[in-house]
Amino acid sequence: MNIAIFASGNGSNFQAIAGAVKKGKIKAKLALLVCDKPGAHVLKRAKKLKVEAFLIEKKNFQSKEEYEKAIVRKLKEKNIGLIALAGYMKIVGPDILKAYKNKILNIHPALLPSFKGASGIKDALAYGVKVTGPTVHFVDEGMDTGVIIMQSEVSISDKDNEKSLAKKIHRAEHKIYPEVVKLFVEGKLKIKGRKVYVR
Ligand code: GRF
Repeated sequence: MNIAIFASGNGSNFQAIAGAVKKGKIKAKLALLVCDKPGAHVLKRAKKLKVEAFLIEKKNFQSKEEYEKAIVRKLKEKNIGLIALAGYMKIVGPDILKAYKNKILNIHPALLPSFKGASGIKDALAYGVKVTGPTVHFVDEGMDTGVIIMQSEVSISDKDNEKSLAKKIHRAEHKIYPEVVKLFVEGKLKIKGRKVYVR
């Protein structure tokens, strides 16, 4: 199976998945990085790891539809069977969703359905919860609403600030995201209603 990762920023999850592929833990090819931000650090990581990068900026298209159609063309050309969003800062629209139904994963840095949106780490800290952590889920048309595949608990101590908490959450992300990608590639994720079973 060929995998594409979509990212807009740092790319530590890209790196974690690439590492698991390299080690043979995930038996698939990381065939493409789709990046919408020139200058994103993830592009450097892809270069180093010799993963093809497809840099595509929405501003160069007349509409989001045209932008996504161009992405789908590239995904088809590369025979992509799984998309993993990893810090991709755009809502995935109907063209990609239709072409890859139940084949798009995302990682969110809070225990969904709590703290949806772009600042899940900060919001959990400000709210005062004692436990937070990443969620890997399938992507649907909503924002962070798709069925949940795996979550990992991270406890928040009185000493934590946004930086220290982010560090703990990222560490947990780098464990569960490659694990979920592996399960998907092995065909072990079964969706029933809102539940995902590992079989
Ligand atoms: C992660 O915290 C992920 O949960 C969120 O975006 C961040 C991406 O980090 N969706 P990185 O670019 O993989 O380092």
